[in-house]
Amino acid sequence: MQPLNLPLRDWTGLRVWVIGASSGIGAALVQDALQEGAWVALSARRIDRLQAVAGGHPQALVAPLDILDTQAWQERHAQICQQFGGIDLIVFCAAEYHPERSWEVDPEGAARTLQTNLGSVYTGLSTVLPAMLARGSGGIAIVASVAGYLGLPNASVYGPSKAALINLAELLYVDLRPRGLSVYLINPGFVQTPLTAKNNFAMPALQTPQAAARAIHRGLASGRFEIHFPRRFTLALKLLRWLPYRLRFPLISRLVHP
Ligand SMILES: NC(=O)c1ccc[n+]([C@@H]2O[C@H](COP(=O)([O-])OP(=O)(O)OC[C@H]3O[C@@H](n4cnc5c(N)ncnc54)[C@H](OP(=O)(O)O)[C@@H]3O)[C@@H](O)[C@H]2O)c1
Repeated sequence: MQPLNLPLRDWTGLRVWVIGASSGIGAALVQDALQEGAWVALSARRIDRLQAVAGGHPQALVAPLDILDTQAWQERHAQICQQFGGIDLIVFCAAEYHPERSWEVDPEGAARTLQTNLGSVYTGLSTVLPAMLARGSGGIAIVASVAGYLGLPNASVYGPSKAALINLAELLYVDLRPRGLSVYLINPGFVQTPLTAKNNFAMPALQTPQAAARAIHRGLASGRFEIHFPRRFTLALKLLRWLPYRLRFPLISRLVHP
């Protein structure tokens, strides 16, 4: 079968912009891409962390960015394009997560999380798409989550933001693939990062950020649309998603602390 996207097998000289590159999965992706010969722009707010991840690599460009600052996106984009001559792949990997039950959600915090996890992707798309569409090539990789597959207590705002990203990636694929662009949807299971360090429950099939980066790399190299891992966990959740609500809800309640 034909892959749904352009397979990214050769990373030599690929110009990659990673949003959320200062820790966790984003940082591991940066190191993987640099090792494979890509040029990588690293964005997030903590400059010291970005510099540590870049490790002085000659093909790394530290490009600090607060993704809630819409003006800054244009400035960073211009800077990267000037240095690299363009962008072949943007990876939307930044997010925030606050474990909270529905009755604990504060509306201001919810708005901020939605803007960080979802709104910023629209800002990023409006920043990079004009040049990619004009060229008729480029890759958009969106890191969502299995938390977007189905409603899970504790992910009161994070879950809906990730469900929206899955929907967004699907419609982007239909919109952009005929115009020569590739759209990759990345749905990780649990990965050991600062984001999940807040969880006070046992996380099944927990992976290292390096293993996650390798799984993402393999998925991109195969030209998959959805890259989900580890499969023993993600396939179980996909199955749960297809159960009738009458069966699904009691199972989910059993998984979550009262
Ligand atoms: N860990 C998991 O189990 C898991 C599972 C499924 C999906 N994911 C997804 O994977 C992605 C990476 O998460 P992670 O686990 O690696 O978490 P992480 O280590 O906490 O990384 C989050 C990244 O987002 C950046 N970020 C947050 N707010 C930002 C802002 N306003 N402006 C710029 N950058 C911002 C952070 O950088 P600064 O703080 O330096 O700005 C950091 O680089 C996220 O989309 C997450 O939802 C994670």
